[in-house]
Amino acid sequence: MASPRVLALVLVAALGLAQVSAVEVYTPSELSVRNGTKVRLPCTFTSTEVISSAASVTWSFQAQGAPSAVSFFYYSNGKAYPGKDAPFKGRISWAGDLYKNDASISIADIQFQDIGTYICDVRNSPDIVVTPGEIRLRVVERGHDYSNRSIICLAVGTVILVLLVFIVITDHLFWKEQKSKVLKPLANTENNQRFPSDCSRTTRLLYQNVRL
Ligand SMILES: *[C@@H]1O[C@H](CO)[C@@H](O)[C@H](O)[C@H]1NC(C)=O
Repeated sequence: MASPRVLALVLVAALGLAQVSAVEVYTPSELSVRNGTKVRLPCTFTSTEVISSAASVTWSFQAQGAPSAVSFFYYSNGKAYPGKDAPFKGRISWAGDLYKNDASISIADIQFQDIGTYICDVRNSPDIVVTPGEIRLRVVERGHDYSNRSIICLAVGTVILVLLVFIVITDHLFWKEQKSKVLKPLANTENNQRFPSDCSRTTRLLYQNVRL
């Protein structure tokens, strides 16, 4: 059993942790874009502090298989500082608004070498970033994109659906016919009538079994 002193210590520690200010960064974990198009890398954040003019954003890029990330874009106090020798030279534009908790950027003319992880890091002193947001970017070839595939999927799906509906209707009509073949003679004999002459021997036997 925990003593009241231990419980009190735990409570104080918990309150202390809650007091530590932090910036929470939110990004989609994955994005898929076609080569040659412009992509917006969304990044939003919350801060326990009022957003000051000193707030800043750093975007880094880690290429597929690269050992570490390299920062390529810095934004603070209304000014963007794109890296000079970055692989995205001349293709990056600021697409956010720090006062609206938005730290997004856009990259134009996406190429296959842009595949990798994009890291969004926001600072709002005295807040401390706990975990920067990470986006894994995939680049798909233009022309072999999802719109072509979805048209094929839709066509195949429609054919399957039509076939299914056809099977269900045919099956239903077949059983309806079978049922009327059996029930009609049943109705007739109920009034001590003879089986109609066209009634087959099998149907008569079937009827007799049903009655038993
Ligand atoms: C996308 O990549 C394909 C394959 O490398 C290339 O043929 C095509 O020209 C590229 N499209 C654009 C717009 O860059």
